[in-house]
Amino acid sequence: MFIVIEGMDGSGKGLQTEKLFEYLQDSCKRKVRRVYDPGTTQLGQSIRQILLHDLDQPLSTNLETMLFMTARLSLDEEINRLRGDGYDIVGDRWLASTLVYQVLAAYPDKEKRQAAWSRVIAIWNAYFNNMPSLCFVLNVPAEVAMKRRAEQKERVDAKKDRFETRGPEWWQALAEGYKLLTEVYDSEYVGIDGTGDPEEVHAAIIRECQNRIPMFPAPSGA
Ligand code: TYD
Repeated sequence: MFIVIEGMDGSGKGLQTEKLFEYLQDSCKRKVRRVYDPGTTQLGQSIRQILLHDLDQPLSTNLETMLFMTARLSLDEEINRLRGDGYDIVGDRWLASTLVYQVLAAYPDKEKRQAAWSRVIAIWNAYFNNMPSLCFVLNVPAEVAMKRRAEQKERVDAKKDRFETRGPEWWQALAEGYKLLTEVYDSEYVGIDGTGDPEEVHAAIIRECQNRIPMFPAPSGA
């Protein structure tokens, strides 16, 4: 089982990934690993540094795409190994992030967007193995995401990364891109309202897992 949680920065996906991981590990007593994209592997971490923090390195959308796909391929291979060892995987971001950040939000023009989408899907089909059993998208309005993100950054006194320094139109395009995914590809991407209380969002995720994944584990002892 490979479950992914997606959404824009500030959607709450980090917290929900952690809650789902704890639910499977502690309540259901499953062998489970939490992974995040880009990152987790050594190569993924190095590429993450370039993509997010080496701001004096300019990156075109094509370069961003190829770097994110490369980091993901390294994680895809790691996931092969982990699943081979019997682990369930809970993922923070996956292919949908590239489809939203490097395709839907990056190309407002319809023809360019379709061409970029096809290129990403072609790379995916050529190299990758691990399609999620289920992928959740936490939908939140751009203003909510921006406000939450600014508060988080202030709390931990962290610098904004490459993608967070962009303006409100970018955040709006991300919110619309994720919404579109859940509307057009609703069997692959399950939209969840991410504006509510974190416990309610978690409960909604568990409910959807139980409804949609045959053999989704019940809490141990239940
Ligand atoms: P993330 O790790 O979720 O950030 P944080 O640790 O601060 O919560 O995401 C890293 C950033 O990279 C985020 O702004 C989204 C962006 N991103 C893309 O643009 N394309 C991708 O394919 C992925 C996976 C992330």
